[in-house]
Amino acid sequence: MGYRELFPYLRETPTIYLNHAATSPLPTPVVKAVSHYLHERSAGKINFWQEDWEVVRQCREKIAALINTTSDRIALMHNTSAGIQILAQGLPWQPGDEILMIDQEFPANVYPYRTLEAMGVKVRLLPAPDGRSTPELFSQYVSERTRAIVVSAVQFLSGYRTPLTDLRQLCDQYGCWLLVDAIQAVGSIQIDVQQTPVDALVAGGQKWMMSPHGTGFLYISEALQAQLRRTPFSWLSVPDPWDFFRYDQQPVPQARQFEAATLNYPGFYGMEAALDLLLKVSPAAIEQRIAHLVQYLQEQLQEIESVRLYTPEDPELRAGILTVQVGENEEQAKAVAKFCMKHGVHIAYRSGKIRFSPHFYNTPDEIDRAVRIFQKGLDTVLQQPVAASGE
Ligand SMILES: Cc1ncc(COP(=O)(O)O)c(C=O)c1O
Repeated sequence: MGYRELFPYLRETPTIYLNHAATSPLPTPVVKAVSHYLHERSAGKINFWQEDWEVVRQCREKIAALINTTSDRIALMHNTSAGIQILAQGLPWQPGDEILMIDQEFPANVYPYRTLEAMGVKVRLLPAPDGRSTPELFSQYVSERTRAIVVSAVQFLSGYRTPLTDLRQLCDQYGCWLLVDAIQAVGSIQIDVQQTPVDALVAGGQKWMMSPHGTGFLYISEALQAQLRRTPFSWLSVPDPWDFFRYDQQPVPQARQFEAATLNYPGFYGMEAALDLLLKVSPAAIEQRIAHLVQYLQEQLQEIESVRLYTPEDPELRAGILTVQVGENEEQAKAVAKFCMKHGVHIAYRSGKIRFSPHFYNTPDEIDRAVRIFQKGLDTVLQQPVAASGE
């Protein structure tokens, strides 16, 4: 694709990296942007806040372009959880309200809402042994008590791609909010908040968005923002922060009022460069390319007898994650993952399963090589007596 030269690890190590659902490698433009910042702080202008503010403004613009909204709906966050905390702590929950989510959500999307149990809000964890946050499941439990459906746009373990449009309809029918953790989606598949008007959507930058840690964003609709109590209210939330002693200033109307004052500027310099790259390749092309790689991987893995697909087989119901179950127990799966890592294939072991997550610049040849090593690992582990723990 011509973009592979932006990933120096491909030249410098024999690694096959298929773990973007955990953390992405940083492309060289990101490294350059962060280095530029660090150099200026150290040996250059030192104090250049106007540039910093311009970079964060550009980040809001580019994130907005990525999810098809306007930049006034975007607040920059330091991680996914920061955005979720704002929703959990800021929305006007009432005792007796119910929040629905599946019992296989990533914990970052669970704990902040569970803190509301102390005030009588019930978090109902719906049984989803297959890790799928299906509209059918939610429709069995939704009621007039439901205040929010909380979901991941793409589930971190099953890789299930939640049909957000169907959930939106359900939420409209019951008058509840649709609050989305999209860290496993933005940067790998197209997210369009005009087409699918979720109430809020959060994502950290470190995975599919190929950005440094300590970056992320909260998208919030105007209607939901109107209901949100202003939890974080920082000195930079106001129209004129340099008018220091005019404490009666009201926050700006934009979503950025929820930002945590001085931000992680080096991180956002990097994020801006990563967003440029994603937008240049184009979200549509990225989604298509990843879908192709995942399909190719699935076909190869299905050839292997002891592999069971955990991610849906239907390409419409998945994104960049393909998770499989192997062997007879968790120890065997762990040992296979360990074998792969030892032989340079970066995949993830999670809760007894093995997760692959290629990004747009990976190639079918890398998939071929990764599958060969995976198969070798599997053969090696399955030949061992069951007692061998892989330690
Ligand atoms: C679905 C999901 N949400 C959130 C996170 C991470 O949250 P944070 O960015 O707050 O560390 C992860 C993975 O680390 C995840 O898979």
